[in-house]
Amino acid sequence: MPLITFSNPEYKDKTVYAVAGSFTETVLKIAQENKIPINFSCGDGECGTCAVRVKYIGDKSPMGYHLEEKEKLVLREIGKISKKQMEDMIVNDLPSEWRLACQFIPRDEDIVIEYEAL
Ligand code: FES
Repeated sequence: MPLITFSNPEYKDKTVYAVAGSFTETVLKIAQENKIPINFSCGDGECGTCAVRVKYIGDKSPMGYHLEEKEKLVLREIGKISKKQMEDMIVNDLPSEWRLACQFIPRDEDIVIEYEAL
């Protein structure tokens, strides 16, 4: 069961369990269910306001995450990921440091999500 720690300098860190095996809940939904004030607007991968930095912790090695074209485009447009970084992630099957909380569905790794608050 993955542990997700939400971190923001203005708030105390909060760690929650993601539901094991569901693979349907986004980080934004998990945050909202736990009253964590992640900044967001569209909720549909269009605006980029929910961009979060992801750190992988624990002893499970992170797997590459498939980013949909829409998420790649938005992360590039808001300057979070360069074209070179995107190519490196694809070639080396590495996870992205930046994700859109409304699109990111965690797997089994324990992660820290650094977010901007509402
Ligand atoms: S809320 Fe708009 S991209 Fe996530």
